[in-house]
Amino acid sequence: MDATPEGLAAPAVADAHTDGRAFFALVPDDDVRRQFSALARDVARRSRGRGVSGDHVHLTLAFIGDVAATSIPALRAIGDALPRVGAMLEFDTLGAWRASGVAWIAPQEIPAPLNDMYVELRDALARAGFPVDVRPFRPHVTLARRCVQPLPRAGCPPIRWRVDRLCLMGSQLRPEGPVYTELAGWPLTVVY
Ligand code: 2AM
Repeated sequence: MDATPEGLAAPAVADAHTDGRAFFALVPDDDVRRQFSALARDVARRSRGRGVSGDHVHLTLAFIGDVAATSIPALRAIGDALPRVGAMLEFDTLGAWRASGVAWIAPQEIPAPLNDMYVELRDALARAGFPVDVRPFRPHVTLARRCVQPLPRAGCPPIRWRVDRLCLMGSQLRPEGPVYTELAGWPLTVVY
């Protein structure tokens, strides 16, 4: 990252020229992806929204927003320094946020390693000058967007995800929807 004349770190986020959005996310393997995607189709139908396609299924740990390509190495370095500990997640609760028209599935219990990773990531991003979301961490997988009839919150048959991969994702907004690209990935070890 560039340094200002005062020696302070310059903001890592591009202002005028941007090269796309970036976010840190947990991404599932193909089997778990298919389970979320089948549920997404069902939830989208019931809530009259647009289901998230299988290749877009993820759990966002930190959304950074627009970043210049020159900031990607700093983001990779932050990912490199995170603990490589995964967790078993049991997604057992369906819900929706009316204001944003988003339907989601979430685990009722957040294992400590996942919460620790989130806290370390958020702190590292803030120290490096990236914007961080000050809202409470509510880990979820978005299943459908633009829902006009959001589902009430309810338990559901669980989807079990052995979280063993963290990714830095790039997102390019296109008229047909966002296109995600993996910019970096880190394997995580799940300790039982
Ligand atoms: P969501 O799944 O809850 O919608 C990539 O855009 C990911 O970053 C999405 O999964 C989205 O979460 C998350 N995200 C968080 N804040 C965002 C914002 N302000 N704009 C777009 N995406 C955001």
